[in-house]
Amino acid sequence: MPSLLIIFHSQSGRNQSLALRCYEKAKQQAQVSDNPVSVTLRRAFDCEFDEFAAASFVLFITPENFASIPGGMKDFFDRTFYPAERLGVQAKSYCCIIDCGNDGSQTALQIEKIMKGLHSTPAQPPLVLYGEPDEDSFQAVEELTEALVCAIEMGIY
Ligand SMILES: Cc1cc2nc3c(=O)[nH]c(=O)nc-3n(C[C@H](O)[C@H](O)[C@H](O)COP(=O)(O)O)c2cc1C
Repeated sequence: MPSLLIIFHSQSGRNQSLALRCYEKAKQQAQVSDNPVSVTLRRAFDCEFDEFAAASFVLFITPENFASIPGGMKDFFDRTFYPAERLGVQAKSYCCIIDCGNDGSQTALQIEKIMKGLHSTPAQPPLVLYGEPDEDSFQAVEELTEALVCAIEMGIY
């Protein structure tokens, strides 16, 4: 079954609240889809390699800490990158939501560089949000999620 895997890291809860909203929206959208799409939400620290390898599309949701991907995301890539490379995981479809303080560019760049090692390019530019998520932020992540589930359902990813 085609699948959306949402992998998030969050220290003070902002990215977690966005990830939960994406998860709810994705499940809602999957229910009205003609073709079944499975939706999984995982904290980066808890996400297993098999789940990453099997996903049709991965949505990364993360802050930026010290101009870098935060520890949880780095732990995820440290654990999964070489197993993925060894098993020939390539062209993994993905995109990022980054809720940060004032930048986010380094996190986007680092995820892009890591995923490029798996011959993967982002499906779209990162959605970068700043500070405490407000209704506009939640609306933006819901619209992105809805479009992703539609595209997965149609077999685009
Ligand atoms: C230790 C630390 C380092 C941070 N470094 C950056 C940074 O380099 N660039 C940036 O834009 N925001 C930075 N921030 C702000 C966080 O990215 C921002 O508060 C984010 O919304 C937190 O998300 P969370 O609540 O999901 O943990 C930093 C925050 C912390 C706690």
